[in-house]
Amino acid sequence: MAKQSLIAVVGSANVDLTTFNDVFPRPGETIFGKKFDLGFGGKGANQAVAARLCGANVGMVAKVGSDLFGPATIKNFESQGIDAKYVGIAEGASSGVAPIFVEPGGQNRIIVVKGANDLLSPEDVDAAAPLLRKADTIVMQFEIPLRTVYYTVRFAKANGIRCIVNPAPAQQVDFAEVGAAAYFIPNETEAEITTGMPVKSIDDAKKCAEFLLRKGMQRVVITLGERGSLVAGIGGMEHVPAFQVQAVDTTGAGDAFIGSFAVFLGEGIPEKEALRRANLYAALSTTKVGTQKSFCTRAEFEKEWQKRSASL
Ligand code: RIB
Repeated sequence: MAKQSLIAVVGSANVDLTTFNDVFPRPGETIFGKKFDLGFGGKGANQAVAARLCGANVGMVAKVGSDLFGPATIKNFESQGIDAKYVGIAEGASSGVAPIFVEPGGQNRIIVVKGANDLLSPEDVDAAAPLLRKADTIVMQFEIPLRTVYYTVRFAKANGIRCIVNPAPAQQVDFAEVGAAAYFIPNETEAEITTGMPVKSIDDAKKCAEFLLRKGMQRVVITLGERGSLVAGIGGMEHVPAFQVQAVDTTGAGDAFIGSFAVFLGEGIPEKEALRRANLYAALSTTKVGTQKSFCTRAEFEKEWQKRSASL
């Protein structure tokens, strides 16, 4: 039986309003969409749910609004067995929401309205210290204030806790503030925006990872969608190929990758296998519609892993 790790996520929670369509309206135009899906999302919450489904104990540190979505989001965490003691309701604020548009090939475009996520402060991190100090890994993204991310990285360093920073959505980042993170994990777009370098190929990704290492990152993983992922650090770089699937909705695949990778690492699985497994967990999430509801359980994952890893 693998070691059950404790993952703490300091991050966002949104409600996703997803429209599926072949075309998108021009300015001033109204068109009919094909399908709609309402579900729980937010990069932080998604990573927490992925980690929980993969078998970890998970605690969430977040802020939701005092609207219909806030209490429902807390209930969603609790119903999945995620510790929501440090998910606060911000009186008078709206919850984070994300209108999402998905194209026929599964590619998505997302607009995030941060709402209460923007009120998650370093004081909230201090209040959650009893949870955070026990964690094997603390996971963060950029849908909360950057000062809170930087504060949490410092907290993790001071307490000797591994942390993973997912710079999503991409923003100008102070590399000195996140250099203590064990892993810095952008996707191609985030890597481009963060570094100002194009990431159109695996070779581009290698150059970009070199740049991030020179900026002081310890280990860099660039997720490359259907091309898998690239890991870089002292000792070199390696491309970790993807698994082929029929994608219908890629929303949340990056979050599935990060949440599952944190769990596999926490269980002591060697990094390369943890990355391969996370590649598969993320790929499987793209075969179903929705964000959190497209994530599979550990048992479902292991069945698929047994089938697919034999050919590696
Ligand atoms: O990564 C996907 C997520 O991005 C969605 O759930 C949406 O809420 C935005 O945070």
